[in-house]
Amino acid sequence: MAVNHISTVLDSEALHHRHRAPTEGTSRSGSSLPLRITEPFGERRPAHLFRWPGAKWHLCAALAPRLRAHLADTGGCLLSLFHGTGALEQTIDAPVLIAADANPDLRALHAELRRDGGAEVFHELVLLHGAGAPRARAEYERVRVLGPLALSSPARAARFLWLSGLAFNGIWRVNRAGALNVPPDPRRLSHAWPFPLRSELASAGRQLPAQPLFDDWRGVIEQARPGDLILSDPPYLSGFDAYTGARFSLAEHHALADGLRLCALRGCAVVAFNSADARSLYQPWADLETAFRPGRMNCRPDRRGPVGEMLAFAGLRMATSAAP
Ligand SMILES: C[S@@+](CC[C@H](N)C(=O)[O-])C[C@H]1O[C@@H](n2cnc3c(N)ncnc32)[C@H](O)[C@@H]1O
Repeated sequence: MAVNHISTVLDSEALHHRHRAPTEGTSRSGSSLPLRITEPFGERRPAHLFRWPGAKWHLCAALAPRLRAHLADTGGCLLSLFHGTGALEQTIDAPVLIAADANPDLRALHAELRRDGGAEVFHELVLLHGAGAPRARAEYERVRVLGPLALSSPARAARFLWLSGLAFNGIWRVNRAGALNVPPDPRRLSHAWPFPLRSELASAGRQLPAQPLFDDWRGVIEQARPGDLILSDPPYLSGFDAYTGARFSLAEHHALADGLRLCALRGCAVVAFNSADARSLYQPWADLETAFRPGRMNCRPDRRGPVGEMLAFAGLRMATSAAP
């Protein structure tokens, strides 16, 4: 089995700003770049470089200790089929992680962080920053229509971070052709620097897996061995799935649930997330729980109440009774 040493990977923006009140030498105000900012967290603080729909930050405190204890007991690897920001993966902080994500821009960022700690990405971000805030909507549109395939890898990763930082609500949502189709956020256009700091990119890069992310969950699940722990957090059935142009079909949900069931039979532990609509795919072979997350994805504020999501557990050595 391929081995990756990991602890920290990526990041998203809400936490990013909440957690990093600069304590000295900040230049976040105005249009100049941040130059000297004291890191208020240690080296192992999860990196939160961009906002990502469906990220599991809200479940980390409840789940990570159980899952870490399971891995300490079995000595197995952590396998993540749908990595995204890697919220839970980073918090578990397993010595070995094998992961996949189908979003090619996110994978480009991972590759760059691993290659040089994001040094070139940061340089490209500074170039995109140009004259600084406030930015015009036209500038956002100009960068948005740049074809990612025509860009160098650092420029592609920087474009991803730049547009994520300025998109409406910080959401990355693509059309069927895989092109970002989110308008700019007027509030964000006026932020001084709504992007990761150089130190954050470098910190994320130091703690990435040794090998690239697989581009599909099948590449990871086929490496599962008894004792491993598999995290499965796909685009939710009947929910947001515009992470990639390919989307995530009902047939994919069936294939995924079946693959996970077989892994559980072979002695792997499985922790699977999905919407309540997917319960029938997991009920026959897993223990189900319900967790609630803030419903910020709805464009109508009056419909943003807590949203129930399904958690399916199989083969965990730790008790799973405490609902998150
Ligand atoms: C719900 S999000 C995962 C969020 C992640 N757990 C986090 O905390 O940030 C679903 C992820 O699945 C990815 N994805 C979609 N189709 C995929 C596929 N066929 N194989 C692997 N990843 C896929 C998306 O790009 C997205 O990052």
